[in-house]
Amino acid sequence: MEEKIARLKQAAADKIRQHADTLSALNDIRVEFLGKKGEFTTLLRGLKELAQEERPRIGQIVNEARGQIEALLEKKKEELHVRDMEEKLANEKLDVTLPGRHQWRGHLHPLTLTLDRIKAIFMDMGFTVEEGPEIERDYFNFEALNLPKDHPARDMQDSFYITEEILMRTQTSPVQARTMQAHEPNTPIRMIAPGRVYRRDDYDATHSPMFTQVEGLVIDKGVRFSDLKGTLELFLHRIFNDNIGVRFRPSFFPFTEPSAEVDISCVMCHGKGCRVCKGTGWLEILGAGMVHPHVLEMSGYDPKQVTGFAFGLGVERIAMLSYGIDDLRLFYDNDLRFLRQFE
Ligand code: PHE
Repeated sequence: MEEKIARLKQAAADKIRQHADTLSALNDIRVEFLGKKGEFTTLLRGLKELAQEERPRIGQIVNEARGQIEALLEKKKEELHVRDMEEKLANEKLDVTLPGRHQWRGHLHPLTLTLDRIKAIFMDMGFTVEEGPEIERDYFNFEALNLPKDHPARDMQDSFYITEEILMRTQTSPVQARTMQAHEPNTPIRMIAPGRVYRRDDYDATHSPMFTQVEGLVIDKGVRFSDLKGTLELFLHRIFNDNIGVRFRPSFFPFTEPSAEVDISCVMCHGKGCRVCKGTGWLEILGAGMVHPHVLEMSGYDPKQVTGFAFGLGVERIAMLSYGIDDLRLFYDNDLRFLRQFE
């Protein structure tokens, strides 16, 4: 009996040493020797066949052997755990010195950035931001702005017609008439209207058949040319800088009277004269004027009660001058080497 126990113990120890190379193999061995139907259990059951005085001694030997096998199993289990952990560490190691993967984040287009700055300045002054359609009626684009059919000033903005009466708007000025007509007559207005405009034009460093304008319109009792000057000077000082020179030149627009073109001192040479300003020291930046009485009347406003001023500026022009960009087409090419500079 004792011999049998010793042999079984040895067999269990050998198996644990040689075959328990996974946790589940180890468990199989536990079941084989110590389980309900395992070898040692069978052995304990056989005790009753022994002589009464032999039982306690043999019983103790069996229990000791079981305890030793239990200990071996525990020890092996621990070893396997450590081995698994080490394997995992070796396989899953990461090299923290590898360069990271760059996450490309999107960002706003330089024209959007410029437009946002323009909007912020006018909103500070209490202007609302209005919108109008890019596909516009001839009536709003021209007629309601004092440009009847066959008016010679239409030629300057020869455009993309869809039908005789519908065209791609050539300017944001139609939003003037639309905004007035959306209000009760003579209601004060202080608005800007940004958006795209379309004209038959060349496509080169300074021209494009599509570009972005911001219209401005202020109507109230007693609005004067000095209000126009003050508003535009403040705007130009804020968008460029306080030292920029501003000059108003007489001009003509059918929907304003008097009209002016507004220049700023050249941002490149500060007025000395260079290639950008063609030696004049000045850059034309926007058109403006007092709203023509006919324009007020056509949209239901009474020029005897209220007066107003309007202006229109080119967003690309302002973006080019504030960022020092020398080719308009860069805004539309979608070349990432250009656009990423505005991240
Ligand atoms: N709409 C004119 C243009 O596109 C600019 C302008 C707007 C002039 C408002 C005067 C008043 O050239």
